Amino acid sequence: MQVEELVNQLFEKIKDEPCFMPYLYNAKNKSFDENKDWVYYSGPYWNELEAKAAVLTFITGQWLVSGENVARFENEYSKKFGFKSSVMVNSGSSANLVMISALKKRFRWNDGDEVIVSPVGFPTTVAPLVQNNLKPAFVDVTFSDLNFDLKEVDKKINSNTKAVLLSPVLGNPPDMDELGYICNKKKIILILDGCDSLGTKWKGKYLSDYAHVTSCSFYPAHHITTGEGGMVSSQDEELIHLARSFAWWGRDCYCVGSTNLTTKGACGKRFSKWLDDYHGILDHKYLFTQMGYNLKPLDMQGSIGLVQLKKIDEIHIKRREVKKRLEKIITKFLGGRVRILDEHSNAETSWFGLPIICEDYHLKHKLVDFLEKNRVQTRNYFAGNILLHPGYKHLDDAKSYKESSRVLDHVFFIGCYPGLSEEMITYIGKVFEKFVNL
Ligand SMILES: Cc1ncc(COP(=O)(O)O)c(C=O)c1O
Repeated sequence: MQVEELVNQLFEKIKDEPCFMPYLYNAKNKSFDENKDWVYYSGPYWNELEAKAAVLTFITGQWLVSGENVARFENEYSKKFGFKSSVMVNSGSSANLVMISALKKRFRWNDGDEVIVSPVGFPTTVAPLVQNNLKPAFVDVTFSDLNFDLKEVDKKINSNTKAVLLSPVLGNPPDMDELGYICNKKKIILILDGCDSLGTKWKGKYLSDYAHVTSCSFYPAHHITTGEGGMVSSQDEELIHLARSFAWWGRDCYCVGSTNLTTKGACGKRFSKWLDDYHGILDHKYLFTQMGYNLKPLDMQGSIGLVQLKKIDEIHIKRREVKKRLEKIITKFLGGRVRILDEHSNAETSWFGLPIICEDYHLKHKLVDFLEKNRVQTRNYFAGNILLHPGYKHLDDAKSYKESSRVLDHVFFIGCYPGLSEEMITYIGKVFEKFVNL
């Protein structure tokens, strides 16, 4: 019997058992118990199909390292989002790291060159700049959308500025036309940390269409997940070749899966005279063109990604629907005291979370406390102003970014992911109602 058939039979037997993936969004025999269950801020939107794909890869794989499934996922992902090339890595943070390392090498940026970035967001958007001896040039946010203020971006650009690094807040972009105009006018590139914004569109096109290169995260809180995982994608194949090299020990060879078993390799000249300073023949696999890392994912992650990719359009629609419904409920009870972040009229945002902006510090903290006590998970908008944090305060003076410093006072988010069931949405409504009637 074929292994696939055996695995199918096994899953048919176990998939309806209460102990099988009991946390699933559509788990049978499991309904939400509002007296003890939590409503998470996010979570994987997967079922037995992803589990089956991973098990099959485990059983049939030998080394389990990045192979055919990762290569197929890279190709399918590129096709879906219109990239020429992508490289999968083991996290979104690793994606950002190899993306910036590759950009610096590709465009011959110098140490100390500047990249514009918001102080508000996730730390590993900023860290790879410093790790590559580049200077993060911070621009304060505007409370209208919590993204960096585009007028200030324009003013901040100087002769050392090489790029703008955008990380749309909870998936929601600023005015991409204006940002694109600024970058073109100043002849600098736009980099997208797209970890929170997979599927978001501007004027009907993916945000990545407006950027030179885009990263993504597949951590379970994100739009699609492979457990841990990330991707760097671009139309610039040379850039992706460099990113792959940084993620694969710094080597030049780019053979994946079965091409590893060919004598000539993907380059067609595997055994050649590759080194200027060595007279003989070298295997391309051991040609090192950068000081790299090992940030490769496992092949099981590739097989999970292939299944998840088929669900991305459904996930996009559901995230938007849930966001709208929760927005209505919360505004009914707390309208005037909180504002739910909205999208620009040209944007079709794939919301990472439901961003709630409170009228003041006290309301935010009372509300967060109440929601958590009632098992509705909340999250800060990540670090708030990253310059307030011990690992980052040496980079610049947090006080110069006043609006960014207000983010922790006013802003938090709750989940709006597709795994929220009807019962959970109703329960969130009840908790907000209870809060206003305290
Ligand atoms: C905007 C942004 N960039 C980067 C990352 C890092 O991704 P990962 O957790 O996969 O390392 C995150 C994580 O949530 C993020 O939100």
